[in-house]
Amino acid sequence: MDEKRPVVITGNWKMHKTVKETVEYIRLLVPLVSESSAKILLAVPYTCLAFAAQAAEGTNIQIGAQNLCEREEGALTGEISALMLKEAGAQFVLIGHSERRQFFHETDQIVNKKIKRALKEGLIPTLCIGESAAEREAGRAQAILAHQLAQGLEGLSEAHVLKVMIAYEPVWAIGSSQAATPEVAEEMQLFCRQNLAQKWGYQIADRLVIQYGGSVKSENAKSLLEQPDIDGLLIGNASLSVESFSKIVNSSQNAKIRI
Ligand code: PGA
Repeated sequence: MDEKRPVVITGNWKMHKTVKETVEYIRLLVPLVSESSAKILLAVPYTCLAFAAQAAEGTNIQIGAQNLCEREEGALTGEISALMLKEAGAQFVLIGHSERRQFFHETDQIVNKKIKRALKEGLIPTLCIGESAAEREAGRAQAILAHQLAQGLEGLSEAHVLKVMIAYEPVWAIGSSQAATPEVAEEMQLFCRQNLAQKWGYQIADRLVIQYGGSVKSENAKSLLEQPDIDGLLIGNASLSVESFSKIVNSSQNAKIRI
């Protein structure tokens, strides 16, 4: 395990939790994870951002968003800009989550524009990639990942690539209660790192955080994190309860003991 890479545990709440629930969640979470050396991130709904950021101030928890608009500003009813997120207290943003790609028709080109917009505004983007069940069955999983990585990071400077986090989330594992086995996840994440190394060089690829996501629970978190190329976890369902999310955060402590 490379010491240059932090352990990053991200909760993705999706379309869950009101402002009231958010503030209460963070109040309960803070003391449970205060000793953790992992980077703890919560991707909350837009409406909760400012309240979450305030509740997490001075703690080891960072707040971010689940999406943003690729344009700077304009007549785009219902959209939210990077600057708006930043001012509301977001420090990072998920980009290209499979639910965005699937239900909101986000293409690799849009994902690439969103990454660039986030970086321009000083938000850390988490680029989400992953193959569907059909793509895996057709033997195209690695080709899909290579394509999503290449397109997502297209045109970025090396300095900007170093700021990006990657989340490998096989679509078939998301919300399915069927996580990838640690071996399969490691195989794919190693592939991602090698693919990134080919394009950006080993020095950069070695420093990029690659999280795994898809049905992570407190029961499987540690065995996933023990894999050398799994630097963190992106957690949907199991991040909704303070109890299970804090358990996962704290299990990362033992999984990544560096020798
Ligand atoms: P899940 O979601 O943990 O509920 O499978 C993960 C994600 O979609 O980020």
